[in-house]
Amino acid sequence: MIKELEKISLEIEKDLKDLDIPQLKKKYLSKDGTLQKLFKNIKDVKPNQKAEYGKTLNTLKVIIEEKINDSQREKSEVEDNKKIDSTAPFDINSSKEKRPHILDLKGSSHPLMQELDKMLDIFQRMGFNILESRQIDDDFHMFESLNFPKGHPARDMYDTFWTEEGFVLPAHTSTMQNRALRRFGPPPIRVVLPGRCFRNEATDASHEHTFYQIEGIYVDKGVSMGHMQAVIKEYLSQYLETELEVKMQPAYFPFTEPDIEFVIGCPFCKKVGCCVCGYTGWIELMGCGMIHPNVLSSGGIDPQEYSGFAWGVGLDRLTLIRKGIKDIRKLRDGDINFLRQF
Ligand code: DAH
Repeated sequence: MIKELEKISLEIEKDLKDLDIPQLKKKYLSKDGTLQKLFKNIKDVKPNQKAEYGKTLNTLKVIIEEKINDSQREKSEVEDNKKIDSTAPFDINSSKEKRPHILDLKGSSHPLMQELDKMLDIFQRMGFNILESRQIDDDFHMFESLNFPKGHPARDMYDTFWTEEGFVLPAHTSTMQNRALRRFGPPPIRVVLPGRCFRNEATDASHEHTFYQIEGIYVDKGVSMGHMQAVIKEYLSQYLETELEVKMQPAYFPFTEPDIEFVIGCPFCKKVGCCVCGYTGWIELMGCGMIHPNVLSSGGIDPQEYSGFAWGVGLDRLTLIRKGIKDIRKLRDGDINFLRQF
């Protein structure tokens, strides 16, 4: 009998390699399987061999069961890896062997958000409130409240995306002016309005259809262009961490009077000319101006009593300048190798 067990144990060794799990189960563990038969035979074994026989048989059973358990565990791990959540970050979907390396990646904030935080921190210290702009808006906030009546030719300057229901993806953060005047009025009003903007642009290294702006509004009694120049110069100097030379040149916006383009002497080449300033020595950074009386009135502020200034500065361009990024599209293409550098 013991001899027979030895023979079977050799057969099991071979079958563990050659048979799959259902075949192993059927051949050895089923009711009429080999092991069951051998267990039944125990009554015929000589009494002095019974103990050894039983022990050997049990060991063989354990070996087969372990093999089956191991293979079931492996199978369920493979199945786990196959369940892909297409909305999850890429590291969740990668195979287990790769994960430890990928999980070493610590999450980090996006370069644009790093710059936004830095800017907002400066404005907060200067006493400004913060209100995020909307990513979908209506004709009134995009145009009417900003002194672009229906049919005004300057509407074309803000060529953007419309839904069939007549909503608009805002082309600038000025869409928030009316809301901010009403929400934070009566003056004094100091508020910055950061948010995403969208324009119908053909993209290239310096143009994107989606970008960030930070709108700023300051309204009180007796506010002048001098205040505007001082405030904008101060926050830009703090942001770029250097003393700046500034210029104001004429521009056109329906929602300001007068309308200004704010220009800084290039802080990178000290106006000698470099690739950042396009070898002109100056960088046109933003539109700004004294808020038009019609805009104040539509925001519930009496223009006879109060005056104010506003600006809209683009964040993407500043991010490119500060971080030395050559192509604006990099900020949105989700390339992990690029983002890991920040
Ligand atoms: N919204 C303008 C643009 O994106 C920029 C701008 C100009 C904002 C003058 C202002 C302003 O608040 O007063 O082209």
